[in-house]
Amino acid sequence: MAKVQRGYRCSACGFEAAAYAGRCLQCQAWNTLEQFEKSARPGPAARGGGNGAALPARSISLADVPDEPGRRLLTEIPEFDRVLGGGMVPGSLVLVGGDPGIGKSTLVLQAAARLAAAGRNVAYVCGEESPRQVRLRASRLGVPGDGISLVPETNLESALAAAEALGASVTIIDSIQSIYVEGLETRSGGPAQLAEAGARLVGWAKSNEIATVLTGHVTKGGEIAGPRLLEHLVDAVLYFEGAEGGALRVLRAVKNRFGATDEVGVFEMTGEGLRSVENPSAAFLDAIDQSASGCAVTAVIEGTRPIAVEVQALAVPSFLASPRRIASGLETARLHLLLAVLARRGGMNAGQMDVVATVSGGLRLRDPGADLAVVAALASAIGDRPLPAGTAFLGEVALSGAIRGVQQAQRRLAELGRLGFRRCYVPPGTKGVEGVTAVPVATVRDVLAALKSA
Ligand code: TYD
Ligand code: MG
Repeated sequence: MAKVQRGYRCSACGFEAAAYAGRCLQCQAWNTLEQFEKSARPGPAARGGGNGAALPARSISLADVPDEPGRRLLTEIPEFDRVLGGGMVPGSLVLVGGDPGIGKSTLVLQAAARLAAAGRNVAYVCGEESPRQVRLRASRLGVPGDGISLVPETNLESALAAAEALGASVTIIDSIQSIYVEGLETRSGGPAQLAEAGARLVGWAKSNEIATVLTGHVTKGGEIAGPRLLEHLVDAVLYFEGAEGGALRVLRAVKNRFGATDEVGVFEMTGEGLRSVENPSAAFLDAIDQSASGCAVTAVIEGTRPIAVEVQALAVPSFLASPRRIASGLETARLHLLLAVLARRGGMNAGQMDVVATVSGGLRLRDPGADLAVVAALASAIGDRPLPAGTAFLGEVALSGAIRGVQQAQRRLAELGRLGFRRCYVPPGTKGVEGVTAVPVATVRDVLAALKSA
C-alpha cells in the first residue's frame, strides 16, 4: 500500500524539499515553501512482486530537459573559481585533495567565508578539528564567521541532517577521512567507508541541490586506498600541489564535469591565508638566476593559459657506483629518458655524475613541450656553463633527438615575450611573435651547437 508522506514545494519554482526551510534552495525566494502530500514510491513488492518484474523507470525526452547554462555559486576567490570552471555548481560534489598541511582547510574556510558574505548558508562539518581550532584559523584569516555554521560531527547521516536543517546551500566536509557511515564495521577513512560515504554524498548533494566540497588527504605516494577511490564518483577532483617549504600552491583539476580538466589555480600561502596569484609566470620566475648554470626557462600550457616556469638542474661528479638521479616537479623516468637522449644524440654524457632536476615553484611538468628546456638545463649543468640570458626553450624531444612541435606555440611565445624574453629556441616551422625571435632547431645536436656559439 502506498504510504502518504509530506514534503514541501516552492510555490515560485516548484522545487521540492524534504524539510521545511525559510528560503527555497533553488530559486532563493523567501517563505515560498508550502506543505503538500505525496505518495511514497511503492516498494518492489507493490511494483509487481519479487519475481524481477520491475516497473520501467520514468524517462524524459532529452529535448524536454531545460537547457539552462546553470547557476553557479561564486567563491569570489578568482583562482578557485577558475579551477571549478566558473564557480560551484549547486548539487555537485567536489573533492579537494592534497598532502596534509598543504592548505585544504584554509582554502575551504576562505571560500566558506566569501560564500557566507554573499548571503549563502554554509554548513562546515569539522570532523577533524574542534570548533575552537577552526575559530583560531578563521581569526588568522580575518573571517568573521557570520553565516557559517560549524557542525562538529563525524557521523555522516547526522552531519548531513544538520546541514539540511540549516538550509545550507553549500556544505563543506573537512575531511572525508574523519567521517564514518554507521553500520559498516570498518574504521573511518578505510576503503569501504570512503566508497559508501562517497556514494551517499553524491545522491544527497544532487537531491538537495547542495554544492558539497570534501577535503581528503592524499599522501606523497598518492596511495590507491585513499580518497582517490572517490575520483570516479565525484563531479570534480582538485589536487593541491606545492614544493616543500615553498609558499606557492597549485590547485589542479584532474577531473571536472563542469569545467576544463587540467585547469590550474595558483595561490601563495601567506600569514593571512591563501592569496590568488594573478600573474603566475612572474611568481614562478621570481627567484630566477639566469647567471647560474643549469637554469632554463620555458612556457607550459596549464589548462587554459600559458605559464612560464624555470627548470633547474645540477650535475656533480658522483662517488657512487650507480650515480643518483633526483627529479622533483618532473617524472624520474622523463629525466632518465632525456639524459639518455642527451648522451646518445648530443654526445653529452652524465654517466659519472649525480643529477638533480627541479621545477621552480613546485609546479609539476606534464607538458612534453618543456622537454627542450629540461635538455638545455641538463646540458648547461653538465658543462657548468650558464645559458644565454633572455633566452627561453620550447619543444618536445623525441628519442631520435628530433625536436618536435608543441601546441599553442604562439601563446607560449607571447607569454615569454611579456616577461622580457627576447629569443626562444623552437622546433622547425614555429614562427616567432612580436618582440620574440624564434630560433629554429631541428635536433638536440643543433641546440647544443647553437648554444656553444651563442
Ligand atoms: P591547512 O589548511 O590546515 O592544511 P590542510 O587542511 O591541507 O592539512 O594549512 C596548514 C598550513 O598552512 C600550516 O602549516 C600553517 C599554514 N598557514 C599559513 O601559513 N597561513 C595561514 O593563514 C593559515 C591559516 C595556515
Ligand atoms: Mg585540514
